[in-house]
Formats: sequence, structure tokens, C-alpha cells
Amino acid sequence: MAFFKLIALLCLLAVSALNVKGEVRKFPDTLSFGVATAAYQIEGGWNASDKGENIWDRFTHTTDTIKDRSNGDVACDSYNQHKRDVEMLKELGVDFYRFSISWSRILPEGFSNRLSQDGIAYYDSLINDLIQANITPSITLYHWDLPQNLQDLGGWANPLMVDYFIDFAEVAFEAFGDRVKTWITFNEPWVVCIEGYGGVTKAPALGISGIAEYMCAHTILKAHAKAYHLYDEVYRPIQNGRIGMSLNAGWDEPATQSPADIEAAQRNTQFNLGWYAHPVFSREGDYPQVMKDRVAQKSLEQGYSRSRLPEFTPEEIAYIRGTYDFFGLNHYTTTLVRMPTMRSIAKANFWDDVGTEGFPDPSWPGSASSWLKVVPWGFRKLLNWINENYNNPEIMVFENGFSDRDNKDDVDRISYYNGYLNALMDAIEDGCNVSIYTAWSLMDNFEWLEGYTERFGLYYVDFNDPRRPRTPKASALYYKSVLDSRTIERD
Ligand SMILES: *[C@@H]1O[C@H](CO)[C@@H](O)[C@H](O)[C@H]1NC(C)=O
Ligand SMILES: *[C@@H]1O[C@H](CO)[C@@H](O)[C@H](O)[C@H]1NC(C)=O
Repeated sequence: MAFFKLIALLCLLAVSALNVKGEVRKFPDTLSFGVATAAYQIEGGWNASDKGENIWDRFTHTTDTIKDRSNGDVACDSYNQHKRDVEMLKELGVDFYRFSISWSRILPEGFSNRLSQDGIAYYDSLINDLIQANITPSITLYHWDLPQNLQDLGGWANPLMVDYFIDFAEVAFEAFGDRVKTWITFNEPWVVCIEGYGGVTKAPALGISGIAEYMCAHTILKAHAKAYHLYDEVYRPIQNGRIGMSLNAGWDEPATQSPADIEAAQRNTQFNLGWYAHPVFSREGDYPQVMKDRVAQKSLEQGYSRSRLPEFTPEEIAYIRGTYDFFGLNHYTTTLVRMPTMRSIAKANFWDDVGTEGFPDPSWPGSASSWLKVVPWGFRKLLNWINENYNNPEIMVFENGFSDRDNKDDVDRISYYNGYLNALMDAIEDGCNVSIYTAWSLMDNFEWLEGYTERFGLYYVDFNDPRRPRTPKASALYYKSVLDSRTIERD
């Protein structure tokens, strides 16, 4: 008997040493699996009951830049169909469901002067159904849908937004915190600030690059920290949950091994991920040094009386540093990064401040989204980079996924997930402490400027049918089998 056990063990070792394609790899028991959505992208019910108007309502109703001229007025109709959503989650067999709450649905005027009982009741019902189904609810407080009246007061460029956000967070902790134990303060603040304040590809589309995105990030970091401290001091002792934020990051691969390209790739990571991560997760806190130096230098050259990057006081640096229970990460893709050929420009501009150029390798498989290439090894490298630079934090992957157009037999999505889950497994074997993996998304939904033309769902949604029926795609069955077996095959 012992002899056969030894032989079996040797075979196992030989197989794992050779990394044989098709070999079954078992996920650690400490890793939970789920799926994610966001309120504006799925709920609809934009004017249901006493819900207030938010910046995506305003933006989609007044711009003609949404690709298919669509909006989130009805979206997946989850405001009326959350019971079907919970059924799908049960079908998949997920451990948890990550969703966001619509600020203007529970606080119609943005401020906490008036609560919507219908808004609270909607999320209560969803949370209770999830718990009944043995699915852990996880809430994102801010997934991009600011109440319009708070935008009218400057939105995240207004430093007083810190306090308005805290009021909203407090309402949410009070209402749902008895049952919800994982909180995400902000989803992808980089996208909020870069695309909505510096650029024009997300609401409120201010387009004041080199200035507004830095103000936006400054407020959001303070708001995040204050929400963390509020939870830590007041709610954790009675509710015993965890709180952090979720940062989006691609992997920046140097285009060549030249010192200039290697430096460019590192700078790109510091300006994009480090901008938000360094103040919170690094030992020293504050913005990355390279970012402070470059923006200050460029601002001076451009005639500004001070750096366009606002400064934190020493007290603020200490207040923000360490405000996390986990490192939330949204990851989709990788870019090659090189030193740009163009010299700098005279006008304030974020990308000029960064001073790098990103582009894809033409051999990487694509998706329906121009920015999303399939590069699983970049996921492994990024997880290791976070592990090494931020002192081995517990990492929760809150988004990862693939877009296509109109396809229920979505073999490319299966291939994406299989590749990225293998890369995740590699990173765990490298020593990264990953406890959560989240597929984006449960179902096709409103993909911002792309409307309904780019689909990320495991379930197909028919947006031409007023009932918005959902059908599992091939990838839903794939994900279900991964969740059932807690294994994948090496690819
Ligand atoms: C809600 O919005 C829809 C358009 O999405 C409109 O037809 C309807 O009249 C609005 N309802 C109310 C009560 O304003
Ligand atoms: C991962 O993080 C959790 C939470 O901080 C901790 O309890 C656990 O020991 C860590 N595991 C490893 C392998 O570092």
C-alpha cells in the first residue's frame, strides 16, 4: 500500500514539475468565487418611486456620445427583477455577489436629509434574498453614479464632498451593515477621475486634463480614508466586517528591455495604480515621489504658481495611510509601455505628466473592447508586483472579464477565464495572498459609452425584449463547473 502511495506521489510530482497541459489544479479552500455588477449598469428604474437624478441619468439623457444612443433607464431591469438575479447566482453556485448601491436611490437629494424608504427596501430585499440563498452580499458604495445635485456643486473636485460621502456611507452602514460584511468604498477611482474629470468618456465629462483629475483623486482618497475610519471606529466593533477600495490596474510591460522603457513602464504604474495605492498601501504613504516630482516640475515650466497635483499635509498622509482591510483589484488586460517619441507639450495634460506611451502587442488576441487584449501572464505579474510593493496584502480581485458582441456560444470568454484563472493560480503558488476572485459580470449590461454593444456577461440579456430575459451562455456553464469542482485545467 505504502509503495503504491509513493508511486502515486512521484507521478503527481512529475506531473506538476512538467506543468502538463490539462493537469487538474485545485484552488485553495481560502479562495471564494463570485460575480459583480453595478447599479447604473443593471438596475434601470431610473425614475422609480422617489429616486433622484444622478450624473449618468443626466449624461445619457443629454449627450449623443453613447454608441447606440442608449441609456440605463431600463438596463437589465434588475430594479424589478432582482429575484431572477438571485436565481442566476444560485444556478452559478457563487459564494458571494458584489453589487453597488445607487446613492440617489436611497438619498434622493444626495444629502442625508431625506431617505427613500423604497430605495432602502429594494436593497434590503436583495440582501435578504442573497442571505437566504447562502450567498454573501458585498457592497460597493460608489460605482460612478453621483447624485446630479452634488455634481452641480463640483462633484469630486469639491473638497466638501468628503463629508457628503461620509453621510451616504453612514446611511448604508446603518441600513445594511448588520448583514453586509464586505464594503468597497470606491470602485476604480482612476476611471472616475481620468475619464470623467480629466477626460470626456465618462460622466460628468469635464475634460479638464492635468488639473481636474488630480482634484478629484485628492477628494476621493480623503473620502475613502474617512469612510474607513468611520467604519473602523464605529461600525467594526458592532458589525465586524471589512472595508477597502477597488483599484483598476492593467499590467505595464516594458516594450523593450532598454533602461528607458523599463523606467517608463514603472513610471506608468506609479502614475496610474500608485496614484491611489501608494497613499493607502505603502509604508510611507502620500503620492508616489516620481509623480510629485514630475507634476511639480511641469507645472513650474508651464507657469503655474504651484503644482497642479495638490499636496497632502503630514496629518492627512498619516490619516490616509493604512486605511485598508484588503487590496481590492480590478484587472482586465496588459499594455506594452515605452518612452514616447514626442517631447512634452506646453499645456497641462495628465498623459504629458506621465510621459509614457502604451500600446498592445499585435499578437495578443483581442475582444470587443479596443483596450482589452487577452494576456493572462500580465495578471500573474501584476499580482506579484502588488505583493512585493505593498507588503503582501490580502488581495481581493473584484473584477476580471472579457467582452464580445452578441454571442451565447462564447468560447473566447471561456478561454479568457481559463487563462486568467490559471494565472491567478500561478500567482497564488508564487505566494500572493488572494482570497476573492470575481468575474465581471453576472450578465450583459450597460457598458457606459459603448451602450449595449459590448457584452461582458456570463448570462445573455435580450435588450430588445421588454422583459429583458436572461439566458446562460456557455461561459456560465464553464464558470459553474469551476465553482462546483474548485479546480481548473492547466492551459
Ligand atoms: C420615467 O421615465 C420614463 C422614460 O424612461 C418616462 O416615460 C416616464 O414618464 C417617467 N416617469 C415619471 C413618473 O416621470
Ligand atoms: C492572507 O491574509 C489573511 C488576512 O490578512 C491572513 O489571515 C492569512 O494568514 C494570509 N495568508 C497568507 C498565506 O499570507
